[in-house]
Amino acid sequence: MGIVTLVSIFTSAGKWLTLHTMRRVQRTSAPLIIAHRGASADAPENTLAAFRLAIAQGADGLECDLRMSADGVIVISHDDSLRRTHEHPVCIAEATTAELAGYGVPTLAETLATVRGKLPLINLELKEPIPPDTLAATIGADVDGIILSSFDIEIIRATRDALPQLPFWLLTRHGTNVAIAQAQELGCIGIHVWHRAATPRFIAHSGRAGFPVYVWTLDDLRRADILAGRGVAGITTNTPGQLRMLFTAILRESRNDRG
Ligand code: G3P
Ligand code: MG
Repeated sequence: MGIVTLVSIFTSAGKWLTLHTMRRVQRTSAPLIIAHRGASADAPENTLAAFRLAIAQGADGLECDLRMSADGVIVISHDDSLRRTHEHPVCIAEATTAELAGYGVPTLAETLATVRGKLPLINLELKEPIPPDTLAATIGADVDGIILSSFDIEIIRATRDALPQLPFWLLTRHGTNVAIAQAQELGCIGIHVWHRAATPRFIAHSGRAGFPVYVWTLDDLRRADILAGRGVAGITTNTPGQLRMLFTAILRESRNDRG
């Protein structure tokens, strides 16, 4: 039986957004909410402040980007330099951890110490080859909730060969059968796909092949609602607090509707 859901969300833009959705199936669960570079709409991306805020906003997980510093430490930065984030030309690979700390760039070790036990899912995106020994030593024995990912299939292949105990998502812009075949060949456990490529057909094919679909990077609440209805397993977002409010409201209405 169809239900009409009326959900109002107070958006970060300061407006009430109302979603009117006709659903044929009631919701009993919502996708995982994964904070992209932390709660990066509300705090500087890939910083400990953004990671703490993601926890405070009710995220289920965190996504952050891994690179190597000049002194051989894994640090968190999307770009290979500080030009965009700090208007400073220094390259991550040419700066020491101490220099990067001066700009608020955290190490992976600091990040894990901040979020472990507080977020059930920690998605570490390898932006460049990360020495497997260093990665394993930094993560340590507690691999609970850790998921690696990369756009680069050679990075996935090499890292999986060296560290088969660490699960991987294939990270891709393309919702195609080629992506599903690559995930199979590489021994991934999920596919993290650009949200525009997460068609019902791709989600169905991927699911039949055994790969839950996670989508990046999505802040639009209407589209988040649509993709949740299609059954994606997780949504990576810059605004985890907004998605938390949305899914809390939808699940509450579904419960009320069931009586
Ligand atoms: O991991 C998902 C997403 O972060 C991939 O794109 O460029 O934001 O790292 P990007
Ligand atoms: Mg990323």
